[in-house]
Amino acid sequence: VTHDLSVYGLVGSLRRESINKRLMAAAVNLAPPGMRVDVSTLLPEIPLFNEDLVGRECDAVLQMREEVAAADALLIATPEYNGSIPGVLKNCLDWLSLPLGQSVMFEKPVALIGGSIGRLGTARGQLDLRHTFIFSRSPVVAGPEVLLSYAHEHFDADGQLTDARTIELIGTLLQNLARYTEINRPIPAPTV
Ligand SMILES: Cc1cc2nc3c(=O)[nH]c(=O)nc-3n(C[C@H](O)[C@H](O)[C@H](O)COP(=O)(O)O)c2cc1C
Repeated sequence: VTHDLSVYGLVGSLRRESINKRLMAAAVNLAPPGMRVDVSTLLPEIPLFNEDLVGRECDAVLQMREEVAAADALLIATPEYNGSIPGVLKNCLDWLSLPLGQSVMFEKPVALIGGSIGRLGTARGQLDLRHTFIFSRSPVVAGPEVLLSYAHEHFDADGQLTDARTIELIGTLLQNLARYTEINRPIPAPTV
C-alpha cells in the first residue's frame, strides 16, 4: 500500500470522561503505517436535524461534511444506549447523509469499535449502526468486531487501554479498513 490513508474519527459520546473517547485515542495510536486517524471535535456543535434546514446548514454541519469528504474512510467509536446507537450520533449521520444522492458518505468505507460498561460491549448498537450505511452504500468493515465489555475495567489510571486482545483486534480492524479503502478507491479517469 503506497497511498497515505486519512481516516475521520467520530466518537458517539459527548461525555468528558467517555470510554469511547479513550478507545478512539487507542485506535489513533494503533493505526498501521501510512494511515492517519484524525478525531473530529465537531459533534458537540451539530444541531438537531430538521429537514427545514436542508440547504441552509449551519457552519458545523458544512465543516463536518467537508472534513468527511476529504477523508478516505471513517472510524466510529460509540457507546450503546438502550440497545441502539446514541441519538447524537444518529443525528449527525442524518446530516451527513444529505444532500440526497450527493452524500459525502457515498461508498466511503467505515469501521466500527465500541465499549460499554455492560456485558454486550455495544454489540446491539453496532448492529444497528451497520444498516445505517446501506443508504449511502458505504462498505462497513465486516470484522473483527471490537466489542469491549465491562469496558471501564480495561483502562488504567491514565486512561490507556490495557486489554491486549482488544489492542490486537483494533490493529487488525484498521488493517482491514485500509484494505477496504484500497478496493473502494475511485477509478482514475483514463489519460488517453
Ligand atoms: C441512556 C443510557 C443508556 C444506556 N444503555 C446501555 C445499553 O443498552 N447497553 C450497555 O451496554 N450500556 C448502556 N449504558 C451504559 C453505557 O455503557 C455507559 O454509560 C458508557 O460509559 C457510555 O459510553 P461513554 O463512556 O463512551 O460515554 C447506557 C447509558 C445511558 C446513559
